[in-house]
Amino acid sequence: RVGYRIALIPGDGIGAEVVPPAAAVLQAIGHRHGITFDFDEFDWSCQRYVHEGAMMPTDGIDTIRGHDAILLGAVGWQGVPDSISLWGLLIPLRRAFHQYVNLRPIMVFDGVRSPLTAAKDATRVDGVDFVIVRENVEGEYSEIGGRMNRGLASEQAIQTAVFTRPGISRVAEYAFGLAAGRRGRVTSATKSNGIVHTMPFWDEVVSEVAEDHPGVALRSEHIDALAAKIVLEPAAFDVIVASNLFGDVLSDLAAAVAGSIGIAPSGNLNPEREFPSMFEPVHGSAPDIAGRDLANPVGAIWSAAMMLEHLGHREAATEILDAVRALFVDGIRTRDIGGSAGTAEFTRELLKRID
Ligand code: NAD
Ligand code: IPM
Ligand code: MN
Repeated sequence: RVGYRIALIPGDGIGAEVVPPAAAVLQAIGHRHGITFDFDEFDWSCQRYVHEGAMMPTDGIDTIRGHDAILLGAVGWQGVPDSISLWGLLIPLRRAFHQYVNLRPIMVFDGVRSPLTAAKDATRVDGVDFVIVRENVEGEYSEIGGRMNRGLASEQAIQTAVFTRPGISRVAEYAFGLAAGRRGRVTSATKSNGIVHTMPFWDEVVSEVAEDHPGVALRSEHIDALAAKIVLEPAAFDVIVASNLFGDVLSDLAAAVAGSIGIAPSGNLNPEREFPSMFEPVHGSAPDIAGRDLANPVGAIWSAAMMLEHLGHREAATEILDAVRALFVDGIRTRDIGGSAGTAEFTRELLKRID
């Protein structure tokens, strides 16, 4: 038997509603495959901030440094500025553990309603299966700058985007390696017309990495045109490599094309495996539906499957996705993708299917 120590950070809102289903699915699948999970749960959240003045303890990072992986729900709640919950938990975790790749797969499952299936040419979503490789620790999400001259006529906000050669090169390297094992195509999201100074540099480094991967075709697309193409021709993509902010925007867009942001998973990866990687749904805490059994748990469950794959259990991961697909085809779906099941009912049915 193999065993793993997993840090669970349910967080706020629906984050806390989708992490227990994901953990239950891991237990169930582990049972079938001789894998045991030790879950250590942490209450790091906006609620903790309100009571204790910090999203996590000062030694929080060190507390989970030795875990095999982290499963996170989402953070963010009314009354606590998003800048506190994000800079106080999510961003420090991604950075401390050098999770410089944010991997976000997109698939249109059979049995799921996509906004595009209502369009004239519904076949557009046939065979959609691509991965966004988002740079996850630098770029537009830099720590340089801030708000100035608050309340004055000269009030302003400045943030300096930071793109480094090693930072671009390693995420591009990951994208090309991934594409080599898939359909051999990388699309790089750019804005290369030189208006944004950082992007010609991004293009240069990505092209250099491409030269080391002659078996993979590289195409660069302007971010604006690329956004349109993901809607018009989503099946055309294999691997999309993008900067932090571009990748963030594209991932919600792509998730919507695939049916719902409630399905989309992500892996914040430390490819060198020096530190734990962190798996979380792409969505946030969704205060508008929290506490009402409406959350689609598939984003979190699929993230847990990505965690299994990262830990070397591809077959077990595939079984989870197959079980989800089978439920969708049987019409067992949450409301965001055209069904009527609640979070609890969907999870119950999925666990039955796995056993
Ligand atoms: P959101 O993803 O929480 O919600 C966007 C919309 O999608 C909402 O209408 C919501 O109801 C719907 N939705 C999201 N997940 C769903 C699911 N699983 N099932 C069904 N519907 C779902 O994004 P937002 O409204 O921009 O942000 C809300 C809060 O979450 C903010 O505080 C934000 O900072 C935070 N946030 C946190 C993370 C994270 O911790 N990783 C990610 C994104 C947003
Ligand atoms: C995501 C989220 C975060 C991001 C926010 C909440 C900081 O939108 O994981 O996609 O932009 O990285
Ligand atoms: Mn996002």
